[in-house]
Amino acid sequence: MTKKIAILPGDGIGPEIVNETIKVLDALRSGFGLNVETEQGLIGGAAYDATGTPFPEATLKLAQDADAILLGAVGGPKWEPLDYALRPERGLLGLRAGLELFANLRPALLYPQLLDASTLKADVVSNLDLMIIRELTGGIYFGKPRGRRINDSNKREGYNTLVYSESEISRIAHIGFQIARKRQKRLCSIDKANVLECTELWREVVIEVGKEYPDVALSHMYVDNAAMQLVRNPKQFDVMLTDNLFGDILSDCAAMLTGSIGMLPSASLDKNGKGMYEPIHGSAPDIAGRNVANPIATVLSLAMLLRYSFDDDATATHIEQAIQAALDAGCRTADIYSEGTRKVSTTEMGDAIVSALLARKS
Ligand code: IPM
Ligand code: MG
Repeated sequence: MTKKIAILPGDGIGPEIVNETIKVLDALRSGFGLNVETEQGLIGGAAYDATGTPFPEATLKLAQDADAILLGAVGGPKWEPLDYALRPERGLLGLRAGLELFANLRPALLYPQLLDASTLKADVVSNLDLMIIRELTGGIYFGKPRGRRINDSNKREGYNTLVYSESEISRIAHIGFQIARKRQKRLCSIDKANVLECTELWREVVIEVGKEYPDVALSHMYVDNAAMQLVRNPKQFDVMLTDNLFGDILSDCAAMLTGSIGMLPSASLDKNGKGMYEPIHGSAPDIAGRNVANPIATVLSLAMLLRYSFDDDATATHIEQAIQAALDAGCRTADIYSEGTRKVSTTEMGDAIVSALLARKS
């Protein structure tokens, strides 16, 4: 049966990097018999401009009806003056919440070709392969009450709520342990249990769930230490399990270990494994429209989509190896450029990946 992918390019560099990914998808359809259809929808600032809301009903419906979703990025300075409810980010958060995509997988993998692109010493990051599992539909991102008010001293006040129920913690912990089982069987849970009650409960529940996975070595780390350890000795980690806010921060940090934030894909899954796939970087408004953004994180997100939602390991591997081949050929977008390599544009990188892909056909 033909599978359907909803494609939501979004804002900033979103449309450019998604275009390159569509080129890859087209090559897979024509050259490798991949049986998928696509339909595009509006999200974020682009949706706000066209319809007055960053998260139109039609987009939710498109996403619900599709077998998987591929998203570019949302946000930009143009929409910053808007109320929170109308900001581009609400579109993305609405989609995550609306589809209950609670499990966010963010793999940080260093491609050997990019060893020189990392700001860290080669021996610290060589062969790096870690997975951050971020809880995505709870915590301080969604906790209530939240807002702004005027306090008793007639001063402005802002407030948010960090809250997790034990069932929210246990379902993401199960995902963490199951993924660790398929890797090196080491799970480090990140919290701030020395200060925040909510994350004290997090630790407690993770330990309880861990009893069902005696073959996985469980450890715990405070988030401040984890941030330090990520740049000090990142290879000590296999799977890092953490909440929504800490995961947001730590995954940007982990991305830079691999040379560039432009390299990291992600999967956001619901309890049945249905997923939305997106690069972890944002809309990069400063470089939008200039044909310089790195499309690799988005192309890798398509590979994750095929692997996790369509169970198509073979095609995902073709994509990943085509990316390696483009890197082997010396192609580098500006963010991963180093001396002795060839600086290419967004579209040139897309073309290089497509031709490497088609070369694999024969
Ligand atoms: C991410 C992004 C989003 C987040 C923004 C765009 C809302 O930073 O996916 O990491 O904070 O989750
Ligand atoms: Mg982020």
